[in-house]
This record gives sequence, C-alpha cells and structure tokens, in this order.
Amino acid sequence: MTEPARFRRKVVWLGQIETEQDAALDQAGWDVLDLPLQGDVEALLARSAATVGVIDLRERDDRRLTRLEALLAAHPEKRWVALVCSQALADRRVATLVRAACFDYVTAPVHADRLFDALGHAWGMARLNAADRTVENDCVFEGMYGCSPPMRKLAARITKFAPVDVPVLITGETGTGKEVAARALHRRSVRRDGPFVAINCGALPANLVQSELFGHERGAFTGAGSRKIGRIEAADGGVVFLDEIGDLPLDAQTNLLRFLQEGTIERVGSCVSIRLDVRVIAATHVDLEKAVADGRFREDLYYRLNVLRLPVPPLRDRGADILRLARHFLDAFRREHAAGTHVRDFGPEAETALCTFAWPGNVRELMNRVRRAAVVAESPLIGAADLDLAARPAAAPVGAHAPTLDLARAHAEREAIIACLRASRFNVSECARRLQVSRVTVYRLCKKYSVRLNTTTH
Ligand SMILES: Nc1ncnc2c1ncn2[C@@H]1O[C@H](COP(=O)(O)OP(=O)(O)OP(=O)(O)O)[C@@H](O)[C@H]1O
Ligand SMILES: [Mg+2]
Repeated sequence: MTEPARFRRKVVWLGQIETEQDAALDQAGWDVLDLPLQGDVEALLARSAATVGVIDLRERDDRRLTRLEALLAAHPEKRWVALVCSQALADRRVATLVRAACFDYVTAPVHADRLFDALGHAWGMARLNAADRTVENDCVFEGMYGCSPPMRKLAARITKFAPVDVPVLITGETGTGKEVAARALHRRSVRRDGPFVAINCGALPANLVQSELFGHERGAFTGAGSRKIGRIEAADGGVVFLDEIGDLPLDAQTNLLRFLQEGTIERVGSCVSIRLDVRVIAATHVDLEKAVADGRFREDLYYRLNVLRLPVPPLRDRGADILRLARHFLDAFRREHAAGTHVRDFGPEAETALCTFAWPGNVRELMNRVRRAAVVAESPLIGAADLDLAARPAAAPVGAHAPTLDLARAHAEREAIIACLRASRFNVSECARRLQVSRVTVYRLCKKYSVRLNTTTH
C-alpha cells in the first residue's frame, strides 16, 4: 500500500530509471524525480528539494562519468547512493567517485530492500546534517567562530570544496585562521576519519626538510640510524596541511611537485616509489605569485597547489564577529581559570576599541589581548586600557604609538558628538540637525561611544 502523502520522501534518480524500480520506490513511499543525463539537468537538480539521490554506475561510459562527477561535486549537500557491479568498482575512476562523493553503494543485482535501506540511511543522515546547519546558524562552523557575511562565504566555500578531492590553497593574513579553515575542510571531507598532518614548512630545519616530508631509509645519511616515515606518508588516507608553503626550499618543491603529479614519493636513500592517497592543503600569508615572479617558488607547483583557492578574510572585515570572538575567548579563559578571574565582560569603551582596531595580527592577536586583559583587569568589566587599546589623541605623532586610522576616526567622531551635544544643550533633535544626521544616528553613536545624554559627557 502506498504511504500517506505526509510520510513520502523525495529522491532524485540521475539517469534512466527502470519502470519496475520506479514502481517499487513509489510503493515504498518515495517520490522519484527521474533526471536523464541530458538537457538542463543541472538546473532541474538545483531546484529539486530531494536530499538523497541515486546514480547508476553499472555501465562504464567516460562521458557519462564526467557528467556525473561534475553533478555530484556541485551537489555535496545531497547524499548519493550508487548502483554498481563488481566489475565497475574495479575501475579506479568509478571507485574514486563512489568513495569521494557517495554515501553508500548497492551492488548488482540490485535488491529492492538493500536499496531502500541505503536510501533510508542516506535520508536520515541528510536530516542530521540539516540539524548541524542550525549550529552553523548559531555562529560556529566546524570550530570556526563567526557568522559575518565574509565568514558565511568562507563556510559555504569550505562546504563546496570539501568533497572535491583536489588540492586547496588557503590564503590570508597572519593569524586569520588558515589552519582552522584547513581542519574544517578535512572534517567536512570524506577523509574525515583519516589523519590530518600539519607541517609548518617555515619551521623545518633546512637540512632535514626532505627527510621530514618524505622520510628516509636507515643509513641514508650520517645520523640516519633507522628508517623514518615522513609526514606526507603519515598522512596516507587523509590530509597533509603544508603551512607557510612559500618557505619550502626549491629542492623540496621539486619532490612535492612529483608527488602531486604522480601520487608517489621516495624516501631519502631509496629509489622505491611508494604510492600514497593524500589530499594536499597548502597555506600562505605571503604573495605566492610574487614569489613565483622572483624565482623563489616553482610556477608549475604553484598551479598544482592553486586548484581551489580559499581566501580567509582579515578580522577587521568581520564586523560583529570581532565581539563574538572576543566573548568566545573570554568565556574560554573564564572556564579555564574559574577561580582566578573576577572578570565578567567587556565595558563599552573596550567594545568600541575592539571594533575599531585594525587587528594586524588578526584572530590570534585578539585572543592574546583578551587573555591578557582578563588577567590585568581590576574591575569586572574589561576596559580599553586592559586590552592595551585605550584611545590615544587623534593628533598623536605618527610613530610606534600612532593610532590606527579607524581608531583616530572613532575618536574624532566621539569628540564631535560630545561637542555638538554640549552646544545644543543636550537636545538630541537640535544636535541631529546641526550634524545633519538622524536622531536615531545620534542615539546610536552615543551608545557606541558611551556618551551619556545628560549634562555630563562620560
Ligand atoms: N574563526 C575562529 N574561531 C575560533 N578560533 C579561531 C578562529 N580563527 C582563528 N582562531 C584561533 O586563532 C589562532 C590562529 O589561528 P590559525 O593558526 O589557524 O591562523 P593562521 O592563519 O594559520 O596563522 P599563521 O598565518 O600564523 O599561520 C588559533 O589559536 C585558532 O584556534
Ligand atoms: Mg598557520
């Protein structure tokens, strides 16, 4: 008997569905959207609300496979179930598609019950994933705090890039969270159960770079007393994160390029090729294009690494996330040092200073300033001075202690509001008229700069 309408679930069938399969799915409570791989299948797929889909890989056809690879890569939010036969699975390309983009597979001859089970699980997982997205709405995405528009864009890109098993190049200023983004990519990918091996290329001793990355055999060089597995080999089945890739010496760049092209490495002192299955994620805070132009970075390696590019925004562009992150770090500090701190929150001046500072050291600097402030603050509310961000006179001489432009602007804005309010005898409408802004703006600025609307100004 057909299930009542409200219990029916949607499934997309990419390819030609057989009539019996269509009827069986319908009987089992599934509404099937049959999308033959022709015409405007992309648009139809994008419009479909189905959270699960079926692909048929029983027959090997290169053009069809290319189409399916692109469609699945464009829709990682759907859980895919593949129909395969053991012969097709022996094909590397088919196996890669199933492993990288599918939730499950059913081997021919396809038993209806087995297919319904796989689809049911896929549907359930998609629902859990939707619940997970509610957490994203709560402003954290795989350990990355923030939900300002640039951070939402970053999370969307990570979600899109994670299932596509190719290298990613993460760019961004120092301390923006490039490693945090790399870990989020790993967690969202099919390699999430495999290792995540992070290497800071700039911190490797020059004479040991090759052996650290690729390993060495016993006796390969003086001091090589035993065989050593390199970091890339240790990441087999997972991800290797090459931080500060711009610092990698040229000879190691050559070997890394060979690994990216051929998927094999050789340990130092051995000529045996070892095949590895590792996704490379690289990060840089220097301009790699310039390093290429200066001859410090191989152009061919740059193109290999730069398949998908993930820019992490600077903290100063993240609006309200600055305060969210500051509170997150303060809460973490209070949890760690419950007995040692009386600090509860940030005072209004501190909030203004946090929002107007340029943050050259980005999230890492914010974290350090908050932790320090939590220790030095004497009142329960952290002040701007505790963060070492007390407003300095706008006319301070340019030098080591010069204010940032944003801070200078904020200072000037505050002074202008105070002067105008005094001149208008604290009549908000009058002040708004003189400043040619709305009354709401005057109230907002007073709140922002902690200006009290009575005859005293602070
Ligand atoms: N969105 C975020 N949410 C929470 N913590 C973050 C976020 N971004 C960065 N951090 C924290 O800030 C610190 C710096 O992050 P990370 O090491 O990922 O930056 P990076 O860009 O790799 O820095 P560098 O350029 O120095 O290598 C870490 O302690 C990290 O946990
Ligand atoms: Mg880093």
